[in-house]
Amino acid sequence: MSDFEPRIIAFCCQHCAYAAADLAGGARLSYPDSLRIVQLPCTGRVDVLHMLKSFEEGADGVLVAGCLPGLCHYLKGNMHARKRIDYVRNLLDQIGFESDRARMINISAAMGARFAELATEFGERIRELGPNRLVTPAPAPEPSKSLEATP
Ligand code: FES
Repeated sequence: MSDFEPRIIAFCCQHCAYAAADLAGGARLSYPDSLRIVQLPCTGRVDVLHMLKSFEEGADGVLVAGCLPGLCHYLKGNMHARKRIDYVRNLLDQIGFESDRARMINISAAMGARFAELATEFGERIRELGPNRLVTPAPAPEPSKSLEATP
């Protein structure tokens, strides 16, 4: 499974995590190539359905990255996001899907290096868990007898 490259969706608040990711990129700090950022005005905008839909569409991990506690520009958006991610983690546990596939981090715009570190750490954890089992590739069709080559 060494060639497995986890597909990670990162819902990032534009005020902190998105800016931190930008800072990390500008400083050429590495984090998983396959991490796809969805920029939001605030993590309070992330809904449970967005996270579940990400898994359904093939994401191996979902990261929600918001402002530091007490510093949300919309006051309690990151607290609402924390509740929702806890809900999703519980749900994943209940259906036998690893709850570690969903995580929330809180950082500031100046924490580019920390963003890269946390995103890399999350990517490694997802790599350990392996591919999303909800979207296993369809088995290759067996060749039809009528299409088989005749001698
Ligand atoms: Fe950043 Fe709310 S504005 S999490």
